[in-house]
Amino acid sequence: MAALWNWQSTTIFQSIDGDCGGVCSCATCHVHVAAQDMAKTGTASEIESDMLELDDNVNEYSRLCCQIDISDDIDGITLKVVG
Ligand code: FES
Repeated sequence: MAALWNWQSTTIFQSIDGDCGGVCSCATCHVHVAAQDMAKTGTASEIESDMLELDDNVNEYSRLCCQIDISDDIDGITLKVVG
């Protein structure tokens, strides 16, 4: 399954940094998922959670967008770029 990161050519995601190229090792793609959309994105893996712990502004809605799988379920979700 492709990750959300691979949608970077979509206008919506052009402003999200991704220094590591989407391999979960930088956290520059940190986003907050809208509360109502959290169930659609699934949960962070242990590796993703460990990486998020190193970043600022982490909360219960934090995800690394390169780790969110693309599926029809996430169509229309709202993300806030934390960076
Ligand atoms: S792009 Fe580096 S962790 Fe997502």
